[in-house]
Amino acid sequence: MRRPLIAGNWKMHLTIPAARALAAAVAKAAENVADRDVLIAPPFTSLPAVREAAGNRLLLAGQNVCWEEQGAFTGEIAPGMLKELGCTMAIVGHSERRQLFGETNSLINRRVAGALKFGLIPILCIGETLAEREAGTTFAVLETQLKQGLAGITLTAAAQLVVAYEPVWAIGTGRTATAAQAQEVHAYLRQTLAALFEKNIAGQMRILYGGSVNPANVDELMRQADVDGALVGGAALKVESFERIIHFQ
Ligand code: 13P
Repeated sequence: MRRPLIAGNWKMHLTIPAARALAAAVAKAAENVADRDVLIAPPFTSLPAVREAAGNRLLLAGQNVCWEEQGAFTGEIAPGMLKELGCTMAIVGHSERRQLFGETNSLINRRVAGALKFGLIPILCIGETLAEREAGTTFAVLETQLKQGLAGITLTAAAQLVVAYEPVWAIGTGRTATAAQAQEVHAYLRQTLAALFEKNIAGQMRILYGGSVNPANVDELMRQADVDGALVGGAALKVESFERIIHFQ
């Protein structure tokens, strides 16, 4: 059985005091749900305050991670630096990194490998644009992102990986994929992962859905057989909405 994972990606939002307050409220909201993981990915600068405010109930992730242990990599963050602040995971290959900052599949692959090498679990984000969906190339695009993003990853490492399917057209637009669209893609991704690794490994990997997840659509999304969690942007910035998402039924 795959343990559900509800993750809040705070993107470039919140000052340190606001982050501290939200983290404390989310930790409280997550207190009485023991059967699912709850994670937040605040901006790097808020990680110490969030760690302190959230205690141990919440998992923490960086919003990105470099593949090197240290060195001349201006603007990057090392895996060990994230671990030092209590992170166990790192988001990698988010569509905003791909679209706004030119990150390619091969660069993202280095991030995935680097995270694993230094003991962080990558949350590899993939997703097609609207133009790609309309052109009928969704599966081909996702297959390339998975194959290239996970090139060279060993079977043992793969078992812990998290994949997040975030259709670009659904991010921040209020336009969610339907539960059926999400399930169709997630099943395809699991099948592709089974071909890349092994069926039982693919069966253990969590595949999250992201893109306008909100209190009104989370239950139906989470009822889909291959949807193992959610990666939430906007609705993770308010405790009321994120609490409801954490408590999906
Ligand atoms: P929204 O939930 O705001 O659409 O953002 C999704 C996302 O990009 C999470 O990483």
